[in-house]
Amino acid sequence: MFLPILMHTFVWESMDMLKELEQLKSDFKTSLSKAATKTHLLELKSVYLGKKGKLSSILKGLKEMGPKERKTLGQKSNEYKREIETALSKKMEALEVFEIDEKLKKTGVDPTYRESLFDLGLMEAGLHPVTLVQREVEDIFLSMGLDILDGPHIEDDYHNFEALNIPADHPARDMQDTFWFKDLKHLLRTHTSTIQIRGMKMQRPPFKFVGPGKVFRSERTDASHEMVFHQLEGMMVDKDLSVANLIYFMKTLLTEVFGKETEVRLRPGFFPFVEPGFELDIRCQVCHGKGCRVCKQSGWVELLPCGMVHPNVLRFGRIDPSVYNGFAFGLGLDRLVMMKYGIDDIRHIHGGDLRFISQFRMY
Ligand code: DAH
Repeated sequence: MFLPILMHTFVWESMDMLKELEQLKSDFKTSLSKAATKTHLLELKSVYLGKKGKLSSILKGLKEMGPKERKTLGQKSNEYKREIETALSKKMEALEVFEIDEKLKKTGVDPTYRESLFDLGLMEAGLHPVTLVQREVEDIFLSMGLDILDGPHIEDDYHNFEALNIPADHPARDMQDTFWFKDLKHLLRTHTSTIQIRGMKMQRPPFKFVGPGKVFRSERTDASHEMVFHQLEGMMVDKDLSVANLIYFMKTLLTEVFGKETEVRLRPGFFPFVEPGFELDIRCQVCHGKGCRVCKQSGWVELLPCGMVHPNVLRFGRIDPSVYNGFAFGLGLDRLVMMKYGIDDIRHIHGGDLRFISQFRMY
């Protein structure tokens, strides 16, 4: 007799527990329909499903059940638990969408627009203006059939000076304040003209190439001078090249870069590695010739020093100057960036201020 009574108790208690579970489910539904925030939802989760929550406390009773009841009730409670979890995460998702919608309504922001993302405090990654302009110029040269070469930042005396016709005690060395290494043999290249020497040794004429990159000068900085800046060296070697070819080439280049014909001025300039040498100035695009601190009130900016390659330099490059000649130029890339965008201080370019740099994002 003992056994049936006990079984009866199990059945009776399990009926009770089932009712409790049903109740729990319907209570949950009501609470869920009232929950209006994400915090509220998290609270509900802990109240119903947490370690000390309602479901756990009902399930404590399972211990007292017979194996059959335990199984049925266990399955039932798992089913309800899953239902509750799914309902919670669905509502959580809906609330998140709602919150975003509300925020957008308030700020008037449309996240499909780049500017709008900025309003939300998000920053888009982009390219540095010097990189942008360098790539643009490289494309122009590639379309003109030139190769693009590279050279090291750490150079030796030979490539930076000697092979460019600037021997050890030549006064022209003072034109470029140099960062020397302790061994006094190596230095941070002061110009990209070093690439001329490397380029000549790599190939036989006729050839034409450009070599862009960073250069370093131990100089006091001001609105138009930086210690680290960028140049783009160009060299063309062939038979019978003339100053007329050089000037035509430079003008075409500037027209391509600025997208219109630009006013230029050619002056004689002295650089030991060219003869004759020129300074090619363009009208200052910051003040349009009126005079400003970038052009030092002159209305003109030195942008493209150039000249016919000196025979000694060709010889250093193992090229016979009685057969070949060439022209070379050194384009100031930072100046070009300043001219293109009307920037009146070179220090903005490398100041690392994101408010400045982010204005040049590529779309
Ligand atoms: N390397 C020179 C400098 O940094 C610029 C230069 C002048 C380069 C004349 C050239 C050139 O190729 O022909 O001051």
